[in-house]
Amino acid sequence: MKKIKILDKSWIERIFEIEKKSFSSPWTKRFFLNLFDEENVFVYGFFLNKDLIGFSVIEYLINYSIAHLQNFAINPEYQNKGFGSYFLSLMHENFKKNKIYKIFLEVRVTNYKAINLYEKFNYKTINTLSDYYENNEDAYRMWFNLEN
Ligand SMILES: CC(C)(COP(=O)(O)OP(=O)(O)OC[C@H]1O[C@@H](n2cnc3c(N)ncnc32)[C@H](O)[C@@H]1OP(=O)(O)O)[C@@H](O)C(=O)NCCC(=O)NCCS
Repeated sequence: MKKIKILDKSWIERIFEIEKKSFSSPWTKRFFLNLFDEENVFVYGFFLNKDLIGFSVIEYLINYSIAHLQNFAINPEYQNKGFGSYFLSLMHENFKKNKIYKIFLEVRVTNYKAINLYEKFNYKTINTLSDYYENNEDAYRMWFNLEN
């Protein structure tokens, strides 16, 4: 069974393990822990049966009318099996249920896999953010309107 669930701080070790395996410049554990104290930020876990195999971090803006996908990862052992696509579609269903139709995110311009995934779902690149990342890499800002 596959499902998404909001995670609390008790999941930090598992989340951080996936984060470290997924990114060359992972967020710190402290950074994650602080997110749990933000009232408009939620960490969603993606479960395959009882195993946490991915997570996303969503910041809700403007009275919960816009979702900012701040982080999104699938444990590398489970990548390329369609789980990322499935997780994103479950997130979309959840947004729709809560009448949230606008989503945006930033992605490294060299992260072809993630860009392909977002484009598959019809996310559109709106602009390029220069030197957005710590290694001066640019980001694409992508938007998606769930009403379209
Ligand atoms: C991005 C990520 C979440 C995708 O998860 P996943 O489970 O591997 O995704 P899927 O198996 O559903 O594949 C999704 C799409 O990615 C694209 N894709 C997969 N492998 C690819 C590759 N080697 N090169 C380019 N695109 C690729 C395809 O469009 C694929 O869709 P398709 O299989 O229908 O053609 C995952 O790779 C990940 O955690 N990466 C590291 C963290 C990260 O970069 N997160 C995004 C931050 S913005």
